[in-house]
Amino acid sequence: MSERKVRGAFIVVEGLDRSGKSSQVTLLEEHLKAEGVAVRLVKFPDRTTPIGKLIDSYLRSESEMDDRSIHLLFSANRWELAKSIQDSLESGTTVICDRYAFSGIAFSAAKNASGMSYEWCRGPDIALPAPDITLFLAVSPEQQRARGGFGEERYEKADFQERVEHVFERIGVEMGDGSRWFAVDADQRKEEVAQELWRLVQPLAKGTDRPLGRLWA
Ligand code: TMP
Ligand code: MG
Repeated sequence: MSERKVRGAFIVVEGLDRSGKSSQVTLLEEHLKAEGVAVRLVKFPDRTTPIGKLIDSYLRSESEMDDRSIHLLFSANRWELAKSIQDSLESGTTVICDRYAFSGIAFSAAKNASGMSYEWCRGPDIALPAPDITLFLAVSPEQQRARGGFGEERYEKADFQERVEHVFERIGVEMGDGSRWFAVDADQRKEEVAQELWRLVQPLAKGTDRPLGRLWA
């Protein structure tokens, strides 16, 4: 019997703005490193690439763009890193991704723009490397407010975030049982959320021998 090679795990953390996602990603990274795991942190949008700079300017409302164009740029921003994510995983490095294709679908579909159905929004991200686990930080509108409200960026408005939340829920349901999509109550204290995330991630901490999947392909 031939042994399958162990690769790094692909962990995605998703959530609304003010869900505590950035802190949790950092805590998770620190925890994995403390366990001796090689970790690479990736954040989408990656605002440092030429495509990322266009996205950054749009999010700060320094430029306007057609809804379809910006949607495709967010996806292109993932595709430009897809190969290097795959390479990291194959070399045994665990990759934690702060937002991924699910944000791409949720924020664009929530616009309810004509011709931008859920299916259309999903299209460009089909066949991206699939996460081994997706941790969705579910935060309530009350907690979002209690945490000091939103910043200045486009999309950081309560009514829009509520629509985004609904699309995320749909994604979670449609991903199905084998997808390892977990919604975690992000209204809890930071330490409690971190503990719950760790419990979910721990089985993958030493990597996995599962072949890397492709999203919706
Ligand atoms: P950030 O706050 O995590 O830096 O993300 C910036 C915003 O971009 C956030 O409101 C979510 C949104 N977004 C999309 O609309 N589409 C995407 O594909 C991604 C990754 C983020
Ligand atoms: Mg933000």
